[in-house]
Amino acid sequence: MRGIAYWLSAVVVLTGVVVCMAPASGHADGQAAPIFGVTIPPGYRDWRLISVAHEAGDLNDFRAILGNDVAIRAYREEKLPFPDGTIIVRLAWSYIASEENNKVFGRAQSFVAGAPINVQLMVKDSRRYAATGGWGFAQFKDGKPADEAVHKTCSPCHESAKARDFVFTHYSP
Ligand code: HEC
Repeated sequence: MRGIAYWLSAVVVLTGVVVCMAPASGHADGQAAPIFGVTIPPGYRDWRLISVAHEAGDLNDFRAILGNDVAIRAYREEKLPFPDGTIIVRLAWSYIASEENNKVFGRAQSFVAGAPINVQLMVKDSRRYAATGGWGFAQFKDGKPADEAVHKTCSPCHESAKARDFVFTHYSP
């Protein structure tokens, strides 16, 4: 009987710990994004590279797409859907000409990352985010989340990548 009581209390304590960690991105580090409650995951800037991208036109940016260990493992094992705990981060910077580099090349050919634009995140938690394909979405600028209207646009557009678990970016070996 004692044993059962001990295990029950252990379960209660553990449940408490898990619930406290519930903002799927780890410890709350600043404000949570609207709708999905995603916060900026600590240490994300040190995560490994999935790929890079460049958007022209109005966006005119450079992007790096990084993943936590769960994401990188799933990509390398070509596992779909991505398992719970996957976090993919997309960083964007303005796309600017580098006069410094152009001088070295002797002609205008170099473009580099300028000021940061924003950071977007996708966090996989198939139960919590069941209504949006298992993904929680978030966008931050200077550590502050974008408004609710912006967050309503994410999932409908990512629907186009449904066949690849709503993720557009391919792994660049
Ligand atoms: C108009 C469609 C559209 C909207 C709206 C949109 N995305 Fe995306 N997203 C894309 C496309 C296309 C890519 C891949 C190309 C790129 O990296 O620019 C992408 C890439 C991403 C990635 C990298 C992983 C992947 O799927 O390739 C993340 C993370 C991401 N978006 C998060 C968000 C968040 C968060 C929002 C809402 C704040 C959002 N997106 C809104 C189309 C969209």
